[in-house]
Amino acid sequence: MPVMSMKLLEGERALITGCAGGIGRGIAKALKAEGALVLGSDIAAPPAADGIDFLQADLAGKDGWKLLLDDAVKKLGTISLFVHAASPRRLEVDTPLSVSEETWDSMTDINLRSGFFLAREVGRHMRDNKIKGRIILVTSQHRETPRNLPHYSASKAGLTMVMKELARVLAPDGIRVNAIAPGAIPGGGFVANNLAELVSQIPLGRAGTPDDIAQVAVAILSERFGRYVVGTTVEVDGGLGLTSWIPAKA
Ligand SMILES: NC(=O)c1ccc[n+]([C@@H]2O[C@H](COP(=O)([O-])OP(=O)(O)OC[C@H]3O[C@@H](n4cnc5c(N)ncnc54)[C@H](O)[C@@H]3O)[C@@H](O)[C@H]2O)c1
Repeated sequence: MPVMSMKLLEGERALITGCAGGIGRGIAKALKAEGALVLGSDIAAPPAADGIDFLQADLAGKDGWKLLLDDAVKKLGTISLFVHAASPRRLEVDTPLSVSEETWDSMTDINLRSGFFLAREVGRHMRDNKIKGRIILVTSQHRETPRNLPHYSASKAGLTMVMKELARVLAPDGIRVNAIAPGAIPGGGFVANNLAELVSQIPLGRAGTPDDIAQVAVAILSERFGRYVVGTTVEVDGGLGLTSWIPAKA
């Protein structure tokens, strides 16, 4: 009798942006562990030689996302899973009244513009190749609550609407588009000024890890657990969104 594979993503081919960073790397490792062939990408070099295939690419500018997608299709052949986790660092010195046009442009360029065009063209590629693919856009709690970083919050709010727009048009072809909104995941792009104080606000009593996010990504991307999940945002935050309150800072 054949032994049935217990892996959730066997045979899938995944492209992940932000794959030198904490959350993107965590998702890449989890997808690989579940049997997917994973191609990671980032402007930065991969942090470790952990067997994840990698393309170093800058998503900035008009053609960044196109070059990455062309190269990714050449390497993977077809793409059945796509995760957009890339984002420029959010610097606490930026505030609503001080953020520069340059910082605004760079944040919205990577998070929103590249996120939309990559997801749309990956979705088109899936549809044209009759692949019932899955896409996750990594957003944030601050897609709907202020953070003193309007360029960041606005890009994540926009990415949330992009997710919904694409989810609606791609679902009839069996392609599922969703978002994950992480809570506080120290390391990588988020450095807490006072971690103990932050943790005291998290109902679950601890900060999150990249693997906390990655396991939910696996579930949404898998057809065993995620098959009826479309056009939604899954909050993975230990309950922080229930209590978080960040004072305004001009
Ligand atoms: N860490 C958190 O607490 C947290 C909370 C909410 C949402 N998020 C979101 O999760 C995602 C991952 O965050 P993270 O904490 O792992 O951050 P991170 O900084 O570790 O990872 C982001 C990656 O994006 C890459 N990147 C930046 N500019 C790029 C460009 N021009 N081209 C290609 N790649 C580029 C960076 O090099 C980096 O490796 C981001 O979208 C972030 O907004 C994180």
